Amino acid sequence: MSASSRIRNPELLQRLMSAEAAAALIPNGAVVGMSGFTGAGYPKAIPTALAHRIRDLNGQGEKFRISIWTGASTAPELDGVLAEVDGIEMRLPFQSDPICRQRINDGRMDYIDIHLSEVSQYAWAGFLGKLDLAVIEVAGILEDGRLIPSSAVGNNKTWIEQADKIIIEVNDKQNAKLEGMHDIYYGTALPPNRKPIMITSPADRIGEQYLHCPLDKVIGVVETSAADRNSPFTPPDEVSKRIAGHILEFFEREIAAGRLPKELLPIQSGVGNIPNAVLEGLDAGPYKNLTAFTEVIQDGMLKMLKSGTLGVASATAFSLSPVAIEELNNNIDFYRERIILRQQDISNHPELARRLGVIAMNGLIEADIYGNVNSTHIMGSRMMNGIGGSGDFARNGYLSIFVTPSTAKNGSISAIVPMVSHVDHTEHDVKIIVTEQGLADLRGLSPRQRAHKIIQNCAHPAYRERLMDYFERACASGRGMHTPHLLGEALSWHQRYEENGQM
Ligand code: COA
Repeated sequence: MSASSRIRNPELLQRLMSAEAAAALIPNGAVVGMSGFTGAGYPKAIPTALAHRIRDLNGQGEKFRISIWTGASTAPELDGVLAEVDGIEMRLPFQSDPICRQRINDGRMDYIDIHLSEVSQYAWAGFLGKLDLAVIEVAGILEDGRLIPSSAVGNNKTWIEQADKIIIEVNDKQNAKLEGMHDIYYGTALPPNRKPIMITSPADRIGEQYLHCPLDKVIGVVETSAADRNSPFTPPDEVSKRIAGHILEFFEREIAAGRLPKELLPIQSGVGNIPNAVLEGLDAGPYKNLTAFTEVIQDGMLKMLKSGTLGVASATAFSLSPVAIEELNNNIDFYRERIILRQQDISNHPELARRLGVIAMNGLIEADIYGNVNSTHIMGSRMMNGIGGSGDFARNGYLSIFVTPSTAKNGSISAIVPMVSHVDHTEHDVKIIVTEQGLADLRGLSPRQRAHKIIQNCAHPAYRERLMDYFERACASGRGMHTPHLLGEALSWHQRYEENGQM
């Protein structure tokens, strides 16, 4: 099927052009809001055409850079190609691209790492300046010009509303039957005009199926035919399975103690090997009709919907392997009944995470003996990916679980350190820490009690004694017994790693 059969509005059909012509409409210095969330729903052709244009201009000695706002991470065809030609002045709110990361850490690209639920508020309030252009991928355009969202909603509603001009990519590799899966809510407002968001269960729909689009702002429409990034699924490794095992046992204990219902509470799960292992474990267990109130639907959630372990999943985007995308496409009518894709200011909304009592499960880079978590920075200064939605869910959920292998880089780094080199989630937000060594339930514990629990249950045996020695000497120092530290030594583990390659 040609994409133009998906452009049912005659006025917009007139504005069809090549990706190169559309890229030429983006001026140097522009601030561009692009679609895209975790490798789904990003524009497939215009960023690459723009990167070629920038490369040619650079060859003639001209500099050309734009600022890019998205939903979250995208793909090599967006972040990768534009970072490669040094075409990104400023990037927000999340990325995970290796070239982007390198540019950020070299100081050649500014990066603003924001809670994903808050990005649209930042844009609406004007904290970020003016948005010149929106470049949005959709699955189709209706007769009246409304847009059928594709595999990610992200910040598209806000970009379309805020941008002066809009360019649309219509991608015929996005399943046309995604139509009806989305729930776009037009009732948000800035304080003091906010109203309660009337979602009391992950299954609730409160909005519309389509994105409104002011036709006079649309300066170009481009047809594409390209799949989302769709990285292959990696089966969980042994360490991930052990971490998952601790979490599953914990859920059983909490149900037995009457602190969780047998259907648990709505699950939020980051993407990656450990979350996949947890989802597989839940799927193999006695659970039925669980719910998810999360950011991204990954392979594991699709399997759980199929088996009935999960009854419904609310998210803002898909992040699927090629095999899972085929499964989704083959059974899209089944999944449309059970999946709701919302804009990210609703999928990650703190009011909703708190009301629904979400169980948040996210990865960490390092945690300290008192329970502060760093999930963004390597050795205090170098950006990994960004905070993403982890803070939205961790602070506001009913349970915030953080997971990590107990060591990194073949054992030369301990994930449990005396003091984290950067804090994303404070000791006040972190309720459970899990490594393959065990699980530390920090609820109701004072800082010194937490230190004992984290060192004994989570630290790798190779580091346990030294952590306890640090803690005991800090206690004995007489500097203060609430959160004992030896200030001159607290970050010495990181320094030692930088100097000798071993903590
Ligand atoms: N010090 C230095 N490097 C470390 C480290 C540490 N303490 N811990 C991990 N790393 C390195 C790993 O060695 C690995 O490096 P490599 O890519 O060179 O192999 C890399 O960091 C990723 O670690 P890995 O163990 O594979 O973790 P992951 O893929 O599960 O990612 C986070 C962990 C924390 C980076 C990831 O979960 C993240 O970006 N979180 C923040 C955003 C978020 O939570 N999103 C979900 C919210 S909905």
